[in-house]
Amino acid sequence: MNSIATLVLKHFGEKFSGSPKLYFSPGRINLIGEHIDYNDGFVMPAAIDKGIYFAIAENQTDTINFYSIDFNEHFAISTQDIQINNGWRNYVLSVVNEFTLLGISLRGFNCVFGGDIPQGAGMSSSAALEGGLAFALNEMFTVGLSRVDLALLCQRAEHNFPNVKCGIMDQFANMMGKSDHVILLDCKTLEHSYFPLVKEGYKIVLINSKVHHSLAAGEYNIRRQRCEQGLAILAPLLSIQSFRDISSSEELAIGKSSMTIEQYNCCKYVVEEIGRTKKAAKLLQSNDMKGFGKLMFATHEGLSQLYEVSCSELDFLVDQAKLFPAVIGSRLMGGGFGGCTINIVEEAGVENFIQQTILAYQQQFAIQSEAYVVATSDGTARVPF
Ligand code: GLA
Repeated sequence: MNSIATLVLKHFGEKFSGSPKLYFSPGRINLIGEHIDYNDGFVMPAAIDKGIYFAIAENQTDTINFYSIDFNEHFAISTQDIQINNGWRNYVLSVVNEFTLLGISLRGFNCVFGGDIPQGAGMSSSAALEGGLAFALNEMFTVGLSRVDLALLCQRAEHNFPNVKCGIMDQFANMMGKSDHVILLDCKTLEHSYFPLVKEGYKIVLINSKVHHSLAAGEYNIRRQRCEQGLAILAPLLSIQSFRDISSSEELAIGKSSMTIEQYNCCKYVVEEIGRTKKAAKLLQSNDMKGFGKLMFATHEGLSQLYEVSCSELDFLVDQAKLFPAVIGSRLMGGGFGGCTINIVEEAGVENFIQQTILAYQQQFAIQSEAYVVATSDGTARVPF
């Protein structure tokens, strides 16, 4: 058994009685389609083999006990007293709260969890935390929600106590991921299809900048607001309902004088990224990895210059990646303001790219970065043991 799973079960055995069930809840990558899940766009995430294990069992009381191995923190609360807290507690409590909002009266349970998704790395440890608990509670209390319903519940949970007005991408990938496959998700309709993630001869490599600028959640909500305000201005002017109805930058420019420059730039990025992602899906399906990679570089440019969610460390990593002929695409991944870059790299050049990049980054910022060659996984599931 995986060593984290073993550790989670060991802690459960030491702290609680009863025989728990074990669950694995994955983090995610996203190939392209950034910051457009909440803008009616398309995204291309995949669940990965880094994630969070949960051991969980009912305890025949009204108390919920959580133990986080990674934070070495215990937290107990009555089922009648679920309310906003802070840090990791907000994510798990908000999930519990969403079940109660559905009218489901949960009984007490004990839950130990721990994982290996690096914090603040843009690999969505938050969705993994929400998803694993939601999946387990859904089974434990035979609630009968579908995976898509659970993803939506987790998204609401993240909006609520943690107050991050995220899109659906992370929770969807967490629940609906399929090993070796990328999901092409239409975030407006939730229609989705799967296709093979890694093409022969290429690897996906994440470089963790190890920086996580504060205010990231606040800035995230501000970006979302700018887009909403921009769309409210554009909709009557262009007779449209969604960013995806805008077909060209000329059309978009009609609204420019009515918006702030920040609103306009965010809208411009969104319209361009929706177009790029549609193109990227076709390129991936026709095996044009180099064409796909070029679009990733363009996405980074947009995220950095127009959407303003990059930082000097991430820009450096992407500029650095451009120096390696083996790297065919690179960009920041996830919410931004730190975290990882995602790179598509020719297999033969992977080791050299990783070594040289870590070295150059260390020299520039005196930070020891980390690299992960991505392996995929299925969505959240019970792990028999
Ligand atoms: C975070 C959010 C997602 C998505 C990405 C950016 O990961 O949780 O919903 O918006 O940022 O693409």
